[in-house]
Amino acid sequence: MNLSPIYKYGEKQEIYCQKIKDYYKNVLKIKSPKAFVKTYGCQQNVSDSEKYKGMLVNMGFCLTENQEDADVILFNTCAIRENAENKAFGNIGWVKNLKKANENLFIILCGCMTEQKNIIDKIKLKFSFIDLVFGTHSVHKFPLHFYEALLNKKSNGKTSAKAYIKETEDIIAEDFPMVKNNNLKAFLPIMYGCNNFCSYCIVPYVRGRERSRHSNEIISEFKKLLESGYKDITLLGQNVNSYGKGLEEDINFPKLLKKLDSFEGEYTIRFMTSHPKDATNELFDVISNSKHIAHHMHLPVQCGSNKILEKMNRKYTKESYLKIIDYAKSKIPDIVFTSDIIVGFPGETYEDFLETIDILKKVKFHSLFTFIYSPREGTPAAKLSDPVTKRKKTARLLELLKVQEEISEDLHKKMLGKTFRALAESFLPETNELLCRISGNIIVEAKGEKEKVGNFLNVLITGYKKDSLKGKII
Ligand code: SAH
Ligand code: SF4
Ligand code: F3S
Repeated sequence: MNLSPIYKYGEKQEIYCQKIKDYYKNVLKIKSPKAFVKTYGCQQNVSDSEKYKGMLVNMGFCLTENQEDADVILFNTCAIRENAENKAFGNIGWVKNLKKANENLFIILCGCMTEQKNIIDKIKLKFSFIDLVFGTHSVHKFPLHFYEALLNKKSNGKTSAKAYIKETEDIIAEDFPMVKNNNLKAFLPIMYGCNNFCSYCIVPYVRGRERSRHSNEIISEFKKLLESGYKDITLLGQNVNSYGKGLEEDINFPKLLKKLDSFEGEYTIRFMTSHPKDATNELFDVISNSKHIAHHMHLPVQCGSNKILEKMNRKYTKESYLKIIDYAKSKIPDIVFTSDIIVGFPGETYEDFLETIDILKKVKFHSLFTFIYSPREGTPAAKLSDPVTKRKKTARLLELLKVQEEISEDLHKKMLGKTFRALAESFLPETNELLCRISGNIIVEAKGEKEKVGNFLNVLITGYKKDSLKGKII
């Protein structure tokens, strides 16, 4: 049974959107108020920000790209590594200056950072000029909290930065207004939260338990995106492979993919992220028989040492991971794999690190997101002793990047002379080139006309570098 309550956007939110609109017009006397939204972190946050922007528009704000112009600044934060938090704090600190010049400037902090007690303590101590703080569980209450905080600011002359954190259970928000940045590529969340508790990771603590949206909601949103002209849709979840668990309907991720693959027209379905422990043969069978599912899989391996994988609580081994890759390549020969790697997990020896290098060479990932381990307060790994110095970890990372560069270049070289179907996503006027994305999620630069943006084209690969491909439209 899926016990997560579903909150639909409706009258409750609209009432407060209207009150905020009236407040800016009649009390603050700001004719056309502007809002600036800054998003940190992963696609899940980008997708949440689309909802915050949608609600801000309903509150009467114009969205601006310039934070100095804004009457409201919203920071949607990420907690995944220390540097993500430092970046946000740096920006927030800077915004304090803007507040000196504009006493009506309203600052909102939300997202994953705010779901941590240590962060809330820090905000109260050092950033008390923030007007509203709310967590990832309060999307549906944003208009209410915003309005209350506006009144509070008026009556106190300053804010009391009340934080609305973990105030509800793990909810699913449906039917929210959204403002998207792109009209070809869209994100579509199919589930929220995470149950995996990888020992280094903060996500399960800040995003709550895993919960899936009903397939009919997903399918109807997907259809609307296609009808509006979207051509490349990425299904989102921390572990899309476990989609459907807890729902009453007979559904799992491969079955959902099959349904989404069944529409007319040319479009691409992507998804992220997949957890290797739940990547089944059924999934690859569905991809290989599909018309629209991308031949790309982002399958984070994190590291190649079984000892470290166990300490990470990843629930697979190097061998079982390689078995998945072998099966996938046997079914989908042109499948592109990409991955995430953490270097310097507590207790990682140089021998463990060499196991990671070995798995890179065996799988031949096209590209990687690489991270140096960052301890996150409250996670089990943060309590482990970690004798390896930052300097050594950085040296390991550089060594790994060098190996990966060669692999990427080699894979690019093998693509020479081949033709791929690709979506022309954008146009570079300086070089008269189109940026085209192939099914494997690789960008090819090819001379072409601006008018071709939004079309699927055949692109012949004519040149390569370690980090880019050149092509010719044929
Ligand atoms: N749910 C996804 C990834 C979410 S976070 C998955 O399981 O694959 C994205 C990536 O950030 C992770 O894959 C991991 O490589 C990295 N990451 C997470 N926590 C980290 C930490 N504490 N230090 C360094 N990297 C981390
Ligand atoms: Fe974090 Fe692991 Fe969940 Fe991914 S699967 S979000 S790495 S706990
Ligand atoms: Fe960061 Fe939260 Fe995503 S911690 S990576 S924004 S789920």
